[in-house]
Amino acid sequence: MQTKISLVIGNWKMNPTSLATAKELFVTVRKRAKSFGEVEVVIVPPAVFLCDMARLSPSGRIAIGSQNIWPKPEGAQTGEISVPMVASCGARFVLIGHSERRAVGVTDELVTQKLQAVLQHKLTPVLCVGEAKRDSDGAFFSVVEQQLSSAFYGCKKSDVVRTVIAYEPVWAIGSGSTPTAEEIYEIRLFIEKCLTKQFDRATAQKVRILYGGSITEKNAAELYQTAGVDGFLVGGASLRAEAFVGIIQAVR
Ligand code: PGA
Repeated sequence: MQTKISLVIGNWKMNPTSLATAKELFVTVRKRAKSFGEVEVVIVPPAVFLCDMARLSPSGRIAIGSQNIWPKPEGAQTGEISVPMVASCGARFVLIGHSERRAVGVTDELVTQKLQAVLQHKLTPVLCVGEAKRDSDGAFFSVVEQQLSSAFYGCKKSDVVRTVIAYEPVWAIGSGSTPTAEEIYEIRLFIEKCLTKQFDRATAQKVRILYGGSITEKNAAELYQTAGVDGFLVGGASLRAEAFVGIIQAVR
């Protein structure tokens, strides 16, 4: 199952508070690049640091991602940034539908539009899905199914395979608790089943599926080996260079 290129993404969220600290953190991770092996590594800094971080990675060994974009390429949209803008700064990945964006009003409809915009400009979307609560009657499965089917509505198979899916249960983000490896494995199979239903099996099997939510250098190796995921979307631990490098090494 793990024949696809493994991927570790560090989502810095609204951190750190200064460009100097951001540069320091980036350079510390970059110094360890030789230990990354074949793992694809992406850092997703706040938008204001995007260009600077991309300049610190001229070889592209650490790819740069954007935390957000607006679907239109330009126009009267105060406070927003577009895909061509982040691409011109060197971003190759874009997070779409992160629960912290959904929490401030990003709807399923907007997620679909954002996904289309990223695909249209040939960047790689990282589509985040996940339930707010894990109920014992399994209703969380339909939350994930609904998020997937609406995001991929009208999508071509060739675009679906270029998308990375990050399963991030909202209750696990920043909480210190994660689902068990079996639970992550189960949802991974479920995501494949949903994509098979909406597209076909060959398409479903090509999509990289990550797990995100309270990943640290301590739980990464075990979850990677047993949960059947293609890598991780890391929040808090990506702000500690040693921890982030430890997670990358766990995925090698
Ligand atoms: P966390 O965040 O690793 O701090 O739980 C993950 C995320 O929000 O992507």
